[in-house]
Amino acid sequence: MTPEELRRLAESHEEARPEPRHCIKVCVAAGCLSAGSDRVREALQNEIAQRGLENECEVKGVGCLGLCTAGPLMLVEPDGVMYQRVTEEDAPAIVESLGKKSVEQLVCPSDMSFFTKQYKIVLENSGVIDPEKIEDYIARDGYTALARVLEEMTPQEVIDEITRSGLRGRGGAGYPTGLKWSTVAKAGGSRKFVICNADEGDPGAFMDRSVLESDPHRVLEGMAIAAYAVGASQGFLYVRAEYPLAVKRLRTAIRQAERLGLLGNNICGTTFSFHVDIRLGAGAFVCGEETALIASIEGKRGQPRPRPPYPAEYGLWGYPTLINNVETFANVAPIIRNGGDWFASIGTEKSKGTKVFALAGRVRNTGLIEVPMGITLREIIFDIGGGIPDGHRFKAVQTGGPSGGCIPEQYLDMPVDYDSLAKVGSIMGSGGMIVMDETSCMVDVAKFFMDFCVSESCGKCVPCRVGTAQMYHLLNKITSGEATMEDLALLEELCDMVKYTSLCGLGQTAPNPVLSTLQYFREEYIAHIVDKQCPAGVCQMRQ
Ligand SMILES: Cc1cc2nc3c(=O)[nH]c(=O)nc-3n(C[C@H](O)[C@H](O)[C@H](O)COP(=O)(O)O)c2cc1C
Ligand code: SF4
Ligand code: FES
Repeated sequence: MTPEELRRLAESHEEARPEPRHCIKVCVAAGCLSAGSDRVREALQNEIAQRGLENECEVKGVGCLGLCTAGPLMLVEPDGVMYQRVTEEDAPAIVESLGKKSVEQLVCPSDMSFFTKQYKIVLENSGVIDPEKIEDYIARDGYTALARVLEEMTPQEVIDEITRSGLRGRGGAGYPTGLKWSTVAKAGGSRKFVICNADEGDPGAFMDRSVLESDPHRVLEGMAIAAYAVGASQGFLYVRAEYPLAVKRLRTAIRQAERLGLLGNNICGTTFSFHVDIRLGAGAFVCGEETALIASIEGKRGQPRPRPPYPAEYGLWGYPTLINNVETFANVAPIIRNGGDWFASIGTEKSKGTKVFALAGRVRNTGLIEVPMGITLREIIFDIGGGIPDGHRFKAVQTGGPSGGCIPEQYLDMPVDYDSLAKVGSIMGSGGMIVMDETSCMVDVAKFFMDFCVSESCGKCVPCRVGTAQMYHLLNKITSGEATMEDLALLEELCDMVKYTSLCGLGQTAPNPVLSTLQYFREEYIAHIVDKQCPAGVCQMRQ
């Protein structure tokens, strides 16, 4: 398919689309599906068929609408009415209400700040298009960035645009994407690879899963543009096997894109070829670490290796390899379409664009959100999240998963960007955000994450394999009222040792939840040790 044909296809799809007066967009991402949205969709379709309204109303499966906690969620167009917690029994009332007064008891106010305070780039198609139809994606400017790149830009110009945008990797570390692409482009060698890291192992995180389930073509387009920029012709999407819906939609998307000549040989009628294959991860957190992931694709045990050499120079099977996160790739097409300067105008000086978070824990509105960098934690938790339920008080927010930290109330007005989060002892991470109130015990929270690291440590290096287990043992002693102040001193010593001597990021950051809770909630540790009391009433004391 040539760029011109792509443009014509988009136009013809717009024109050919039957224009039913109403469209009910039912969320069919994993969260709502698990709450029964497929049954609701079927009930709506049956109801419409029974009333002979097939030409009047279309029922469309779309990706995540964001407020997953209120699922099954749906949006009725053109009225813009959103319904929440819909069941099959609600179908007759919803169909009956089309074009009339909405079904009051099901309405989810779409003007609530959960929706209005967000800024959507990565998620702009989520909840809008049918993720299983490439035509829907194309009708929303899909693949025009790829076509433009191939038609008008040199690989270096693409890299310059990405560099100008200031995009930083969304997988956790925030490494400048343009710089990484440039390193791979400059690396010599006959073969190069592009890998999309969709391993997403942080407890509670589902940002990447949702992007893949809601808008898979966006990620494929980003990968293809990256491949053109760095000179690769083969890509791999490494997805955890626990994401079967994402895998299914990706497979469909790859097939569709190949059929239209947007992936495969001679893309858009040019000499550029790029093939994408899926590799399934078996659910080990450490396989999200780039060198472990590469080993896993190579069919070896998924264990990290020392860096340098970095994958950009010595990656998959020893060839230069570009590895980026799902959300990083999802930002690429809009940057090419709107320009690097446009992207750089959003966010803060050193953190550009937006960030997708999985907002969870003790907030009223949990779900998937996208916000401009620089927004404050208070705005996220109290405006978008709707505050703490049941009259409880905010205590802390955990960002960055097992590599991150707990941020206390005094930093609620801090801007959310890479550097500010690091300054207060946490990290941006990939986007997990867990809110806690006074019913959470901070020592118990630190123990939870340490337990996770003990289970997920690959065991290759001693500091992490033995150190995390020892730290967990000490935390366990503290939460059961059996620890002394010497144990606390030992815990702090171990934090330093594990942090500075572990081989990979897992071990190097495993102490972070302990360090940050010790920094801000030390009195809770002391209460467990000296008073043999858990102030939050969570831990069972043996003494
Ligand atoms: C233990 C561990 C787990 C990781 N898991 C992920 C992951 O699930 N997804 C991801 O994109 N990056 C993960 N990373 C970071 C990757 O190693 C790598 O930095 C990232 O994929 C680069 O992409 P980016 O530059 O787009 O952020 C992990 C790192 C460590 C140390
Ligand atoms: S730090 Fe932990 S996960 Fe990383 S290589 Fe060492 S043992 Fe494995
Ligand atoms: S999964 Fe349906 S709103 Fe998020």
